[in-house]
Amino acid sequence: MRDHERHNRTSWDRKSDRYQAGHGAWIGALPDAWGAWRIPEADLRLLPALAGSDTLELGCGGGQWAIWLAQHGARVTGIDLSGRQLAHARRNAAGVGVPVALAQGSAELLPFAPASFDLVISDHGAMSWADPQRAVPEVARVLRTDGQLIFCSTSPLFSMCWEDAGSDRPRWPGWPGWVGGRNRGGRPGELLRGSYFDLAPHPEGDGAQSFTIAHGEWVRLFRENGLAVEALVEPRPPAGVISHFYPEATEWAQRWPAETIWKVRREART
Ligand SMILES: C[S@@+](CC[C@H](N)C(=O)[O-])C[C@H]1O[C@@H](n2cnc3c(N)ncnc32)[C@H](O)[C@@H]1O
Repeated sequence: MRDHERHNRTSWDRKSDRYQAGHGAWIGALPDAWGAWRIPEADLRLLPALAGSDTLELGCGGGQWAIWLAQHGARVTGIDLSGRQLAHARRNAAGVGVPVALAQGSAELLPFAPASFDLVISDHGAMSWADPQRAVPEVARVLRTDGQLIFCSTSPLFSMCWEDAGSDRPRWPGWPGWVGGRNRGGRPGELLRGSYFDLAPHPEGDGAQSFTIAHGEWVRLFRENGLAVEALVEPRPPAGVISHFYPEATEWAQRWPAETIWKVRREART
């Protein structure tokens, strides 16, 4: 494991209980929804037919997506770096009696045979926290021909506009309290503060890091690894929806894309 993976694992183990206590039920109340504003899959219509598919969730956290996918006919495996997050996923899956295989490991070195999955998804999961230079080749390796990778992550624009918290920042009264990193009361502003060409891993506290890369860099990585782009969705939250994660970005996210969802398809191996 590389340093950021070790730090990310320690950090998620440490904050997992608080994260699940603060956000788990909110995520679980609408498990088939994307991103920090929980935009329903029924509106975005990104997923392929699930029945009988072998599906992998990368960075499954408490397993809310994985459980929903299994309830809709997929054979699901959830992988996560954090043993503590997996303990929540195990408990959640057992609570509803749904079979979800859970594995501890990193998206940067997946413990699965080549061509094992029809669908790989990640919702601010490992496609945001693993180094894309290593995760994309791994996903391409484990996808079957015609299989799809669909993932939601923070947009480059959101990262470039991010302002760390000042002590004078008002807090949304219903905010359950974040547990580290970018969400610690900061928010995106209306000025570009960072360079698009030099987007760097974002420090998330405890030495943990998340990754945002330029659109062109994603496309280069996809093409180098036999993945054809089918869609780049920039979801706009419905008016008035407040994100548990970014309560202070409600108006911002109405005006600019806070998140990007990539949908790519594995081409035939030559
Ligand atoms: C923000 S949570 C997202 C989980 C879930 N989708 C949710 O909305 O709660 C990010 C998850 O990615 C996991 N993670 C971070 N780096 C990872 C890696 N390299 N491989 C697998 N999982 C990773 C973390 O342990 C954490 O559970």
